[in-house]
This record gives sequence, structure tokens and C-alpha cells, in this order.
Amino acid sequence: MRPEVAVFPVAGLGTRILPASKAVPKELLPVLDRPLLQYAVEEAIAAGCRTLVFVLNREKLALVDYFDRALLLEQRLAAAGKLALAEDLRRLLPEGVHSVFVLQAEPLGLGHAVLCAAPVIAGRPFAVLLPDELLIADPPVLSALAALAEARGGAALAVMEVPEAETSRYGIVAGAPLGPELLRVQAIVEKPAPGTAPSRLAAIGRYILPPSIIPILEKLPPGAQGEIQLSDAIAALAIAEPVYALSQPCERYDCGQLAGWLSANLHLALRREELKAAVLEVLARLR
Ligand code: G1P
Repeated sequence: MRPEVAVFPVAGLGTRILPASKAVPKELLPVLDRPLLQYAVEEAIAAGCRTLVFVLNREKLALVDYFDRALLLEQRLAAAGKLALAEDLRRLLPEGVHSVFVLQAEPLGLGHAVLCAAPVIAGRPFAVLLPDELLIADPPVLSALAALAEARGGAALAVMEVPEAETSRYGIVAGAPLGPELLRVQAIVEKPAPGTAPSRLAAIGRYILPPSIIPILEKLPPGAQGEIQLSDAIAALAIAEPVYALSQPCERYDCGQLAGWLSANLHLALRREELKAAVLEVLARLR
């Protein structure tokens, strides 16, 4: 099951990065020189997705501008001889990759955001990527999940061990081990109350799902925080179809909060030749 469609739920408020996210959607805040969202988009394209569905609301219309061609800017850059930069802008989405924008008029949860994309998903397997989660791995996490879902059939999601004290912030997975990094999911609980989590394995915002999850979502009552939860739908799906959880090692930055965003910027800057020396110098001065 290799998904051709990728869904990006991007209607969230971004309250943890205010006031920066007041006029600029948090997904467009830069991690180095590109918006946070661009990292998840590239991960989806690398995994073979060709239709990118952004589920947004009226506060996030700047995302449409970001993916539109900026013809005047491209022309000016080209006229100024900055051909590589003009070409980079033109190829933000490569040939054959299409963006679709869907409205989520009410903030009814992640499961509801996925339901809003159902007309574009149109009965096909699909990926869901939560762009706040910047994941760096080789192969990229979504590609590893796609390979897993293709080899075994069924759904797949990425998980990572988190400290016991943080389990109430995540969807927590429990299941039967099939290998050192692989589980067959038997349960997934969204934001379990402290002390009640079935494990310490948290969903980290990458999913490959079959179209059969859509009718499950349509019938789902509100769950944790009064929202339609994707985790609840996955728990129901796991009764009928195999769902796998992969804990492939990866670097993970939760860029929906300041410490994660800062840490992503620092780590990535240290890997860029032109920035590394400057960052190291600042860090050395702080010691
Ligand atoms: C969402 C999901 C949760 C997952 C988390 C990962 O929660 O509902 O299952 O563990 O993303 O970041 P949110 O962070 O939107 O509350």
C-alpha cells in the first residue's frame, strides 16, 4: 500500500508559539531558510506522494500563497542573474506534484481534519503528516512506513519512546512485538490520563492509512478533549485490519513548541557548512 495522497492537517492555532504565529501560520515559521511545513512536504514527496492535501482554515490562507508560483519574483531573480534561486522557487513542488487546499471550518480534531480531506482521498490509501513534528532519518520516516505498509499490507504509524511523565500529551500505542523496531498494534489511547498509559510508545505524527478508516471516522464519537481523534479510529481499525507501529530511530523535533523549534534550528545549522562555524562560535562563547 504505497500512498499517492498525503494529508497535512494545518488548521491548528499554534498557541504555543504566540505571538510569532499570530499573523504567520506556525507552519510557515522558518527552520533555517525554509518554512517548517516544507520539511514534511519533502518527506511526503520522497515517499512517493503526488497529491498533497492541506487541511486549513481562514487563518492559514498564507499557506496557499506559499505554494503558488511567484512569477514576478521569479522573473526579477532571473533578470538579476540569480538563476539558481529562481529555479528553486519554481520547483518548490516538483513537476507532477499537486497541491489541494481543503477547509476545516471548525476545530473538531485531527480525525475530523482527515475526514475533511476524504473527497480528495477518494477511496485510496493515504499518508498523514503532522508538520509540527520535524523528523530526520535515513530512510525518511514516511518512506520507511510506506515500505512497511507495502510489504505487509495494512496501516502503519511511526512511534517513539517518550518519558512516562509525557505520555498524556500523545497517542500511546500498545501491541505485540514482531521485531526490535516493529509492533502489531492492539491498542492506541489518545492522551491517556497520567499513570494510565498502556506503554511509553507515542505516535509521532506520521501515518499510512487505508481508505477503510474513513467510514470509521464518520461514525466516531468525540474522544479526548471533546475532539474526533484519529487515534480512536486507528484503535477501531486495528480490530479489523493489521496496523503496525514502527519505532525506527530518528531525530525528532517538536517544532510546535519553542524549545523544539530552537533545537531544530541549531542542529540543522550545525550541518550546514556556511553556518556551522558561526553557530559553534556562539555556543563556545556561552560556555
Ligand atoms: C497529535 C495526535 C497524537 C500524536 C501527536 C504527535 O496530538 O493526536 O496522537 O501523538 O499529535 O505530535 P496533538 O499534538 O495535535 O495534540
